[in-house]
Amino acid sequence: MKLLVTGGAGFIGSNFIRYYLAERPGDSILNLDKLTYAGNLENLSDIENHPGYRFVKGDICDAPLVAELFGAERPDVVVHFAAESHVDRSILSPSPAFETNLRGTFTLLEAARQYKTGRFVHISTDEVYGSLEDPLEADENFPLRPSSPYSAAKAGSDLLALSFHTTYKVPVMVTRASNNYGPFQFPEKLIPLLVTNAFEDQPLPIYGDGRQVRDWLFVEDHCAAIAAVVAGGREGEIYNVGGNFSCENLHVAREILRLTGKPESLLKTVADRPGHDRRYALSSVKIQRELGWSPRVDFSTGLARTIEWYRSHRSWVSRVKGGDYRQYYQQHYRDREQTLSRL
Ligand code: NAD
Ligand code: TYD
Repeated sequence: MKLLVTGGAGFIGSNFIRYYLAERPGDSILNLDKLTYAGNLENLSDIENHPGYRFVKGDICDAPLVAELFGAERPDVVVHFAAESHVDRSILSPSPAFETNLRGTFTLLEAARQYKTGRFVHISTDEVYGSLEDPLEADENFPLRPSSPYSAAKAGSDLLALSFHTTYKVPVMVTRASNNYGPFQFPEKLIPLLVTNAFEDQPLPIYGDGRQVRDWLFVEDHCAAIAAVVAGGREGEIYNVGGNFSCENLHVAREILRLTGKPESLLKTVADRPGHDRRYALSSVKIQRELGWSPRVDFSTGLARTIEWYRSHRSWVSRVKGGDYRQYYQQHYRDREQTLSRL
C-alpha cells in the first residue's frame, strides 16, 4: 500500500512513520510537510534512507501542489496529521490554526474526492468535546464544545471530513486521541516543557491551580491505534483513542520532579490560560471492541521512557530550544511570569 502522510515531520507523524514502516516494511510512505516551527526532519533521520520513504516539502493549503501529488502518486491511504497543534499558540495568533486545520483539511479532502483515494484517516483530538464535568466521559456521539481556536478548528475539520463521507462517499475515518507524550514532542507542550526545564533547573510553569485533568496516551500506543484504523476502521466512523490514565497536571509535574531528582521548589504557578478546559475524559470502548486496540504502555513506564529519551537527546533539545523557541517562550511566559509564585 502507498500512504500519503501529512505532517510527518512533527511529533506524532514522525513516530507514526517509524512505527508503520517497521510493522509494514513492504508499504511506502510519502511525507508531505511544510516544516513549520514544529516540523523537524531530524525526527526522521534514522529512516530518511528507507527505500519505502520519501519526503516532499509543501503546504497542505496549496491546492495545485496537493492535486498534483494526488494525481501523480494516487495514494491508497491518506493519514492526515498536519495541523497547528498547540492551544497556546492558537490563542496568541488564531489565524494559522484556521488556515491549516480547516482550509488545509478541505484541500486534502477535495483531492481525495477527485482522485478517489481508498481511505482517508483524519487525525483529531479529544479537545473537540471541550471540558467535561466529573464523572462524564465522552464517547464518539458526545456533543462538540471546543473552547480554543485550535480545538474549534479541529472540530470544524472533523465535521468537514465526515461531510465528505456523507455527501461524496469519500472513505473518511476520524480518530480523536487524548493528550500524547513521548519522544520527539516539541517542548512547548506540558510534558517535554517540564522535563527539559527540570533538566536545566528552570521553573516548571503551572497554569492556574494545576488541578486540570488530562488523559495521557503514550505516542506509540496512539500509532498502533492509527495503524489499526488504517487496516480495519469502518468508513464514516469516529474512533476515540484514550490512554486509560488521567490525572491532574500537578501530579504530572511532581512525577517529573521525582524522576529527574529535582526539588519541588521548581514548581511555579503562573497566570492561567484563557478559556482553559478543566477536564478531558474519553471513552475508547468502541476502538477496543471493534478493532481490538487498547493502550499497552502505562503512564509511569511511558513517562520514565520519555524522560530517558530527552536525557539522551540533549543535542536535539538544545537545537529545538534555539532561537525561535526562545522568542516564543519569552513572549508567552513573560506576562505569566509576573504572577509567578511558589506552590
Ligand atoms: P506537531 O505540531 O508536532 O506537528 C505538526 C506537523 O504538521 C509539523 O511537522 C508541521 O510542520 C506540519 N504542518 C503544519 N502546518 C502544515 C501545513 N500547512 N502543511 C503541511 N504541513 C504542516 O503536531 P502533533 O502533536 O504531532 O499533532 C499531529 C496531529 O495530531 C494534529 O492533527 C493534532 O491535532 C493531533 N493530535 C495531537 C495530540 C497531541 O497531544 N499532540 C493529541 C490528539 C491529536
Ligand atoms: P498542553 O500540553 O498544551 O496540551 P493541551 O492544552 O492540548 O491539553 O497542556 C496540557 C495541560 O498542561 C493543560 O491543562 C495546560 C497545562 N500547561 C501548564 O500548566 N503549563 C504549561 O506551561 C503548559 C504548556 C501547559
